[in-house]
Amino acid sequence: MIDPLSIVSFTVNYPSNIEVNFYMADKKFRTHHGMVDILPEDSRKWQHLENIVRNAARKFDFEEIRTPVLEPTELIARGIGQLTDIVSKEMFTFTRGDDNYVLRPEGTAPVARAYVQHHMSQQGGSQKLFYIGPFFRAERPQKGRQRQFHQFGAELIGSSDPLADAEIIGFMMEIYREAGIKNTVLEINSIGDPDTRTIYKEALKNYFRPQLHNLSELSRKRFETNPMRILDSKEKEDLPFVENAPIITDYLSEKSAAHYKKVKHYLDSLNILYHENPHLVRGLDYYTETAFELISPDLGGQDALGGGGRYDLLIEEVGGKPAPAVGFACGMERLFIAAEALNIELNPPKSIDVYLVTRGEQAQNWALKTLPGLRGRNLSCTMDYLARSIKAQMKEANRKGAKYSLIVGDQELETGKFTLRNMNESTEQQLNFDNIVEVLLQDHKNLST
Ligand code: HAM
Repeated sequence: MIDPLSIVSFTVNYPSNIEVNFYMADKKFRTHHGMVDILPEDSRKWQHLENIVRNAARKFDFEEIRTPVLEPTELIARGIGQLTDIVSKEMFTFTRGDDNYVLRPEGTAPVARAYVQHHMSQQGGSQKLFYIGPFFRAERPQKGRQRQFHQFGAELIGSSDPLADAEIIGFMMEIYREAGIKNTVLEINSIGDPDTRTIYKEALKNYFRPQLHNLSELSRKRFETNPMRILDSKEKEDLPFVENAPIITDYLSEKSAAHYKKVKHYLDSLNILYHENPHLVRGLDYYTETAFELISPDLGGQDALGGGGRYDLLIEEVGGKPAPAVGFACGMERLFIAAEALNIELNPPKSIDVYLVTRGEQAQNWALKTLPGLRGRNLSCTMDYLARSIKAQMKEANRKGAKYSLIVGDQELETGKFTLRNMNESTEQQLNFDNIVEVLLQDHKNLST
């Protein structure tokens, strides 16, 4: 017989193709490389940022959309482009039965799919949608680059007006303003329409061709697949050639140039500062016209806090009636890195209204029955579940950021008078229970107004 503890790992093909792994009993499981647990002390800052995003969305009248984490692989490949880094080497995919699944690497193609699938164009006007959630790319992890990361993003579908571009950029900037991240640069560019790009790509190839042997290996590859991505290169040997390359804004059609001019005009009207970067091309194939990125010098190598642009052909590409659209998405982990570099505290201190400190079994029973009533009044409260000493319970109350502690023992239950301790001021009052509730409610109200 095989001793199960001696088995390191083997695979059983259980009915269909489900794999069951057995591990040594003392195996320590860890997250996969590039995938991170968000622990309670950190999740408060996540909630805080999510609240900022939701509140900005409310002010800008964007409504939330939640799409599945798994999408058809074909949708992502068509939407983002076969030759992009994401599709060619960074997708987490699997097959089950006849279906191909991909862990969504971004949110725009899924939102476009949902827009088409649910006939959202029939609602008339334009759709203003936002999302917050996890995304997955099999990239080499490094600071600011994970395999599971999180984005907040927005898509405005149904308008080709440059007003929509300005609204989307304004919404993105509002979130960074609210979060206090000031040290940012908004880079913008226009990559025109497909005809412009065909002509421009030819011009770029003509420019780079004589220099090809001097370019990095990556850029030589991109010369064949997508020469515009050479402009994105961070390789030292490419930089002098990239610097003098022809710029797309010299090739824009009249319509594209007019659109770009209006976007800049509207950004000026909104007092949003920007820097024109004619080499900004973005790494996804669906973009047309406006492209932008929000950069932070505090991020190091991965310096894009977020990015976006117009994608007027994507809805049709994924099977819908043509609908122009513009959107952005931003990395939440990167916003936290920037906040840390700027010493901005996004982690609100943990706090509860009251901690019930109990002495003896009768008091424990009283506390257990009292908590639901307090919670019913919207107060946050807890008690000790380990029969610890009063001293240990007070320490725990402090650790939890309790505003008050209420000390309960046989004597308090007999007299109906309790000691309510204000933990911040280190003051105590002897009160009956009704008065205690009043104090707690008053304090709670003061804090939330
Ligand atoms: P993206 O530029 O691929 O655009 O990603 C947007 C942002 O997500 C990046 O600027 C970065 O902050 C964050 N991000 C991307 N990959 C990672 C990663 N591996 N680890 C950590 N953060 C990451 C899009 O995703 C488009 N869907 C944006 C868009 C929306 N365009 C139009 N609408």
